[in-house]
Amino acid sequence: MNVLVTGSSRGLGKIIILEYAKNGYDVIINYNNSKEEALELKDYVESTYKVKALVIKCDISKEEEIDSMIDEIYKEFDHLDVLVNNASIALDQDFELKTKNEFMKTLEVNLVGTYLLSKKIGLKMLEEKKGNIINISSTNGLDTTYPESIDYDASKAGIISLNHNLASYFAPYIRVNTICPGWINTDMSKKISKEFQEEELKKILLNRFAETSEIANLVYFLGTDKASYINDSIIRIDGGVKR
Ligand SMILES: NC(=O)c1ccc[n+]([C@@H]2O[C@H](COP(=O)([O-])OP(=O)(O)OC[C@H]3O[C@@H](n4cnc5c(N)ncnc54)[C@H](OP(=O)(O)O)[C@@H]3O)[C@@H](O)[C@H]2O)c1
Repeated sequence: MNVLVTGSSRGLGKIIILEYAKNGYDVIINYNNSKEEALELKDYVESTYKVKALVIKCDISKEEEIDSMIDEIYKEFDHLDVLVNNASIALDQDFELKTKNEFMKTLEVNLVGTYLLSKKIGLKMLEEKKGNIINISSTNGLDTTYPESIDYDASKAGIISLNHNLASYFAPYIRVNTICPGWINTDMSKKISKEFQEEELKKILLNRFAETSEIANLVYFLGTDKASYINDSIIRIDGGVKR
């Protein structure tokens, strides 16, 4: 069994790789900027879990880089079992200052990257009549309450829409599911101010942000046969939020 996790050099993606590797999957680690972290992760999973790990640089907002990554993967493996669309950027800033270019960049990475990878890899999975696609959206894609992240929220809402069309097209062979996490303890959430963090914590019934392993557990589960009847689902994982 094997898995490609986009944006897995650090943050949640890295922990998803560790979860699959721990369970014996060969892993494909994708990075854009964090080469050293990606190589360290490869060494760690190969020596600790004795699985094969491939590291591929690919900016998922560039179609030609996606095509090269897919070629490299299928040279090494005859099929892919699981694709996790995790890579994402969040360019929070003043609503009035956000430019069209910034808006487009967020869509290109978060939404168009997810679309292209799912389409291209999904079609290859369809040839094998098996496969699994898991998208990482966000509660921001369900309840859009932050004008500063209007581009990010739109990209995450778009992923939910993509999910339904992908699941329809690839049925009955490929399950396609999307998870919508609330706040997770990663570099992305460290960027917010202490005051905002405290405001957000007040709304979470569990009164804390998620650990990456709590989200990775769900992603791993969805990729296994234990989740064989979960398809085209949009799953919220946010500790219980009252707005
Ligand atoms: N953290 C949260 O509170 C939270 C909440 C809800 C949902 N999420 C979602 O959970 C997922 C993981 O978030 P995170 O918090 O782990 O983010 P993060 O700490 O900011 O890490 C982002 C990852 O995405 C990669 N990446 C960014 N742009 C890329 C590109 N163009 N091509 C390939 N890889 C790219 C980065 O790789 P490089 O460093 O190599 O460039 C990095 O590995 C994202 O989809 C995010 O939207 C996060």
